[in-house]
Amino acid sequence: MNAPWKPGGGLRDPFHAFVCDDHSFDLLRAVAAELGWAPEKVNKGGMRNAVQTLSISASPQILFVDMSESGDPLNDINSLAEVCEPGTVVIAAGQVNDVRLYRDLVASGIQDYLLKPFGADQLRDALAQAQAVFMAPRDAGPERPHCTMAVIGTRGGVGASSIATSLAWMLSDKKKRSTALLDLDVHFGTNALALDLEPGRGLTDAIENPSRIDGLFIERAMVRASDTLAILSAEAPISQPMLTDGGAFYQLMEEFRLAFECSVIDLPRNMLIQHPHLMSDVNVAMVVTELTLAAARDTIRILSWLKTNAPQARVIVVANKVQPGSPEISRKDFEQSIERKVDVLLPYDVRVASQAAKLGKTLAETAKGSKIGAACTALLAEALGAAEEDGAVNVKAGGKGDSLLSKIDLKGMLSSRRKDKVANEG
Ligand SMILES: Nc1ncnc2c1ncn2[C@@H]1O[C@H](COP(=O)(O)OP(=O)(O)OP(=O)(O)O)[C@@H](O)[C@H]1O
Ligand SMILES: [Mg+2]
Repeated sequence: MNAPWKPGGGLRDPFHAFVCDDHSFDLLRAVAAELGWAPEKVNKGGMRNAVQTLSISASPQILFVDMSESGDPLNDINSLAEVCEPGTVVIAAGQVNDVRLYRDLVASGIQDYLLKPFGADQLRDALAQAQAVFMAPRDAGPERPHCTMAVIGTRGGVGASSIATSLAWMLSDKKKRSTALLDLDVHFGTNALALDLEPGRGLTDAIENPSRIDGLFIERAMVRASDTLAILSAEAPISQPMLTDGGAFYQLMEEFRLAFECSVIDLPRNMLIQHPHLMSDVNVAMVVTELTLAAARDTIRILSWLKTNAPQARVIVVANKVQPGSPEISRKDFEQSIERKVDVLLPYDVRVASQAAKLGKTLAETAKGSKIGAACTALLAEALGAAEEDGAVNVKAGGKGDSLLSKIDLKGMLSSRRKDKVANEG
């Protein structure tokens, strides 16, 4: 469940029960005693007493709660979740024999539901199962190792968010990997908009209350774009500065690792300055750039930053919005200046981009059959290839002690660009 840890939370009782009738009361006390648990931890008062008690005391390892007097079981489970700390395994009991209710309760984080009247053996089985769940390592999750990919634009508007949403969509749709998309542009993010979704309050809640972030929170707070793609984003009021030390983001990424196969983070470049630790466990860093002078300078700076601050990350350089004819800087000059190759090149295609915006679909989904579609497929292959590689990092940079910026002649590139321009005009 997802209440913040309370002081003394480390000293959890193994068991606490809240029942409604005498028969359940006696049975639970007897079975609790058999298991070595204090019978006085079996209380009367059902769900209402459970919520009241847990709001002022540490949550137990296993909680048994009788819902027979509950008028709105799902709502009551949500109230319980508010006061019950992460990790508690909850067994509910009730008189309603309805498979839909059972499914809804399980989806809300309940471990088991016992139909009343239940016998001692049923109760023992449910408690043994709950003990096993409480003891089990939490990360016995997906078969494939988790991969976290961060998408960083070197300049504003280069298309980093278009590529982050496209990458997440391709991973989830084409590769059928369960994927989390996290838009860390908290005030101006467009990931939800691009997928034609409302951002919801999930990310704002996470920032405001980082201690509530756990598996159940993730399940509830994320907005589903499909069976395999879930998104967490915000449209925080622009009158409100973001007050966070970045801990919430880091914790979200941790939870994604347990709950999904892939995470794609749309990471505004200023976040690197504010919260460098966000990159410390990223597997693939996708640096999105345009072929311009300013972008060349900042690509160099960001690659150098990554080398120092995220040496484990495989780096992919993506040039986006590349126009035919003479770009501000040619691909060759750009590659020379950043001292590595551009891995993927996406053409400028205003038709596909505006179509994507109109349809509320990602660039990759809209671009099927076009050049940009083929480039997106190449981008996905690069990303997965990088994720699967291990060993040395792929950021090529200058020798020890060299300033990368000092090694290139930006002014010279600019003057040759001007010469080209004059030649083209002439
Ligand atoms: N290859 C492309 N061809 C044409 N337009 C594109 C291309 N890629 C992205 N765009 C368009 O460029 C605009 C900016 O894209 P996007 O929001 O993805 O950039 P960004 O780098 O995330 O911007 P910001 O710095 O605001 O976060 C959008 O209107 C998008 O549709
Ligand atoms: Mg963006």
